[in-house]
Amino acid sequence: MAKEGTLASSSLHLQQEVTAAEDTNTKTREVAAAGSIRYACYEGEHQLPLIMSIIDQELSEPYSIFTYRYFTKNWPRLCFLAFHEDNCVGTIVCKMGQHRNTFRGYIAMLVVIKPYRGKGIATELVTRAIQVMQESGCEEVALEAEVTNKGALALYGNLGFIRVKRLFRYYLNGVDAFRLKLLFPRPDLDSLLMLSEENYNMELSRPISEGSGYHWDQQTNC
Ligand SMILES: CC(C)(COP(=O)(O)OP(=O)(O)OC[C@H]1O[C@@H](n2cnc3c(N)ncnc32)[C@H](O)[C@@H]1OP(=O)(O)O)[C@@H](O)C(=O)NCCC(=O)NCCS
Repeated sequence: MAKEGTLASSSLHLQQEVTAAEDTNTKTREVAAAGSIRYACYEGEHQLPLIMSIIDQELSEPYSIFTYRYFTKNWPRLCFLAFHEDNCVGTIVCKMGQHRNTFRGYIAMLVVIKPYRGKGIATELVTRAIQVMQESGCEEVALEAEVTNKGALALYGNLGFIRVKRLFRYYLNGVDAFRLKLLFPRPDLDSLLMLSEENYNMELSRPISEGSGYHWDQQTNC
């Protein structure tokens, strides 16, 4: 009898869990269809617990409140949150500054909570941060991702990031990282390149007799 009661209650429990999961799925599908995700720039310290709680759940690296404050106090315009109704469902935390001889944007943390993944929320968060970086004069954006993080690598790959380095045992969990970079177009360099291309074409179209000294059968070392 007691066993039957336990079975009945556990099956009821299971049924409730299934219904709850179905509700969540339906809810998130509706969210995607309605496009009801609201994106907001970081407003202040009162949002820090929201950011910390979703990042701490999802990223392997532990961060202290000082790390979060370092980013959000110095670069509040480079921190965004995604909300569904009043719930924070995703966030991005970044910085920018001089790095060697380039002015560089850096993505420190990016998370979207599980039920809301695959709906373009991370893409939107990254795009917003990148836009501010570009408008602020950054020449490139960098970040590190675990070599095993297929989702993040695909996401950044789609956005034009390239892998520039593999960092051995970069994370505390012993996993290697890829350093990824997005290079912004440089109009100053583009115009220089176009100029030198024009010169090159003019040089080629000049008749040999004009005295470039170059003959097609001339031997070169390279
Ligand atoms: C990585 C993460 C932020 C992606 O968030 P998301 O909102 O689901 O991403 P998007 O919906 O914007 O995905 C955009 C693209 O990225 C790729 N992508 C995202 N997640 C993927 C996965 N799990 N597997 C393969 N590709 C994936 C897809 O190409 C996708 O485009 P598509 O849906 O048109 O195929 C999320 O999975 C997450 O929070 N993971 C845990 C924390 C983390 O790894 N952060 C990154 C640290 S560098």
